[in-house]
Amino acid sequence: MIITIDGPAGAGKSTIARLLAQTLSEQSGKTFEYLDTGSMYRAIALLGLRRHVDWNIAGQLESLTKNTTINVNNGKTFLDGEDVTELVRSPEVTEKTRFAADNPAIRLIMVTLQRSIAEQFVRCGKGLVTEGRDQGTAVFPDAPIKFFLTATPKERAKRRLKELQDCGKQGDFNEILRRITERDLRDTSRTVGPLRIPENAIQIVSDGITIENVVNQMLQKIAAEK
Ligand code: DC
Repeated sequence: MIITIDGPAGAGKSTIARLLAQTLSEQSGKTFEYLDTGSMYRAIALLGLRRHVDWNIAGQLESLTKNTTINVNNGKTFLDGEDVTELVRSPEVTEKTRFAADNPAIRLIMVTLQRSIAEQFVRCGKGLVTEGRDQGTAVFPDAPIKFFLTATPKERAKRRLKELQDCGKQGDFNEILRRITERDLRDTSRTVGPLRIPENAIQIVSDGITIENVVNQMLQKIAAEK
């Protein structure tokens, strides 16, 4: 079974997808894997940074992508075999990821890869919780259960600020809010794989709701669909 979770940046998709996969595995006795598709686009951006690509020449990042192996396994992201899970979260990578995500040829490679990862899991009798911007719309439009997880930009900015503060870092609320709004605009206006509410998706707005509560809502919906 494939479960998709789409939604904007900072809605808590990764945390929730991971927890949902873990809970489903515990409850059903069947292993549910978790796929963070954003990390794949991030890995390509990291590669571009390392190889000093000219970001204005789309073909450069494209040909690097064609000659690279991206792998996502057990919540970890590998670039040519190297575990880059932590490295792809850096602000420099975040800033450059749009060059991978906005490139139609790179998207096609990633979508093909995501489908083949899912096929492999299903073939081995596993389930999959996959999250991103286009999972329920473009990559797995026939998935039996699709969620659209969102929160208002202010709520997402508030959470991001708290995350920074919890790590002893400073942050400016208005600047964080501006970046979130900018990413929303980019994600929804992308010509290939834009962020949209998938057809038949269950929408969850997580303002003021705990992570556990969101996961419980999802579990109830999944149980009701069976
Ligand atoms: O979810 P995230 O912040 O790790 O995603 C990084 C970027 O990749 C984000 O700008 C949107 C893009 N992305 C995408 O275009 N399609 C996906 N399936 C996942 C992420």
